[in-house]
Amino acid sequence: MPTPEDVPALPARPSEARVKRALEPEDIVRYEEDGPKVVLLDQRLLPDEEVELECRSVAAVVEAIRELAIRGAPAIGVAAAYALAMAAARGDDLGEAAALLAASRPTAVNLVWALEQMRDDPTPARARALHHEEVERCRAMAAHAAELFAPGTRALTHCNAGGLATGGYGSAVGALRAAWEQGLLERVWVDETRPLLQGSRLTAWELEIAGIPHAVIVDSAAASLMAAGEVDCVVTGADRIAANGDTANKIGTYSLAVLAAHHDLPLFVVAPTSTVDLATPTGAEIPIEERAPEELSARFPARNPAFDVTPANLIGAIVTEHGVHRTPYAQSLAALV
Ligand code: MRU
Repeated sequence: MPTPEDVPALPARPSEARVKRALEPEDIVRYEEDGPKVVLLDQRLLPDEEVELECRSVAAVVEAIRELAIRGAPAIGVAAAYALAMAAARGDDLGEAAALLAASRPTAVNLVWALEQMRDDPTPARARALHHEEVERCRAMAAHAAELFAPGTRALTHCNAGGLATGGYGSAVGALRAAWEQGLLERVWVDETRPLLQGSRLTAWELEIAGIPHAVIVDSAAASLMAAGEVDCVVTGADRIAANGDTANKIGTYSLAVLAAHHDLPLFVVAPTSTVDLATPTGAEIPIEERAPEELSARFPARNPAFDVTPANLIGAIVTEHGVHRTPYAQSLAALV
């Protein structure tokens, strides 16, 4: 049995050979007038291959969102905004296009939020502005979230809430980047995030590019790492935050919240106001996406809910571009939107 002393220390910096160029927002998703088309980095192939997918119809964007070629709450909102601009340029029925896009994934409220933002001005310029604003919101909330870190913090994150998920910079990963730049972060534990491995494929890749010390863990290792005193906080993004602060995020976030509470550790949610849904009173009303059983097992029956709801009382703080919000969230969130 290896003792903790036998476990090799994480490198302070990745080797030169592994340092790659940081992604710009338009590398993740963009609109091109020539076509017209929506071009996105196909996240299903990362980190092994960097391949762009060109979508020349709303149906193609819907398929890309459903199949997770683009994923993460703010990023699918941005993709939907570009798709609506494309539909307008093509002379498509915009009501039909918006309905198809809105139905592509049910849990992230950013999708319908972005379509609503595009309603009066379905142009590429408006979609690009929306994209730019989402990235700026990420930078602002990351700066606020960094206040929650003490020097030497060992953070655990789940799924991918990086630039790939937001269209640039990232929400939870943005917070980790800001904390790292301020010398407050020691390392990041990256949940692999079953079943589609957004953590071990996407978050680890982004942390490697950012030069942040990290290690992938199986989701079920979180409890023992917490018990061993190797985790200081949990930081995640969100797909929808209800008016009372209940938060939907990738399946497994609720388990982490329960574990964190048991070990007296804070769980911080970092998300833009485009993820806050005051029209949904509590988590019980958030629609939870059920994905194909085949994502878990090619042979046996399976149940595959893609998200869960963390009750507000297990969340230490919700950070938006406006600042750090504390319980009671019904009050602190109401003032935001
Ligand atoms: O199914 P996914 O990969 O779209 O799930 C994404 C997540 O759960 C993210 O944590 C969430 O969208 C926050 S992204 C800033």
